[in-house]
Amino acid sequence: MISIKSDREIELLKVAGSIVYDTHCYLKPFIKEGITTKELDKLAYDYIISRGATPSFKGYEGYPASICTSINQEVVHGIPSNRKLKNGDIISIDIGACYKGYHGDSAWTYAVGKVTKEQEYLMEHTEKSLYIGLQEIKPGNHIGDIGYAIETYAKEHHLGVIQELVGHGVGTSVHEEPDVPNYGTKHSGPVLKKGMVIAVEPMLTLGSPEICILDDDWTIETEDYSMSAHYEHTVVVTENGYEILTGGKNGQK
Ligand code: MF3
Ligand code: CO
Repeated sequence: MISIKSDREIELLKVAGSIVYDTHCYLKPFIKEGITTKELDKLAYDYIISRGATPSFKGYEGYPASICTSINQEVVHGIPSNRKLKNGDIISIDIGACYKGYHGDSAWTYAVGKVTKEQEYLMEHTEKSLYIGLQEIKPGNHIGDIGYAIETYAKEHHLGVIQELVGHGVGTSVHEEPDVPNYGTKHSGPVLKKGMVIAVEPMLTLGSPEICILDDDWTIETEDYSMSAHYEHTVVVTENGYEILTGGKNGQK
């Protein structure tokens, strides 16, 4: 069952989403050569707590940290560690916060120092693919319309679309129904209705979309070691379209 949120629930989801957004903004200046991903995790934890929320991912199915930090060929669920960021890395930071029982979930990929043209291309078009997918969101459209738009855009730009990892509903649990794939066919899947809250999260690669899971049982990386980027927003379906819950005042990062 896909839940429809009440106005009161949407207000709480907005607070959770804005805390996630503000955590990204707070971390951004620290994302530099030399900082460890564990230090970023601690900064995020302290910031989320200071806002009266809790990190959604900590303890989720045993996940051991507050945020996910996935570097270069790592796609998602990289566990913060003593690894230092290096000039030329790209790092996807995925943040979830829970406020009064309601979650927000959002990921961004950042460049550390100077990155290659290919890395920039990957980041630019993965971010664009998120907004292309979001444009499909309005009552009466289908979940498949979102994936179709993302996949079409990714293919036009020769980027790999990971199939095994999908977006999801968001509410009192960080992962709810429905699945929101980054591929699909038009007019397929559940129909969008006002008050549904979903996270759309394209994960694209410069090479093959095949992935594997590391021995830590969490980190997912590309099989061919090609670079991967990840952008995610939590949004609510409105009367005429959608509203981003994890964005700034004007909806952008
Ligand atoms: N934002 C992540 C996602 O939707 C959730 C991370 S789950 C955790 O895929 F277990 F790693 F915390
Ligand atoms: Co998510």
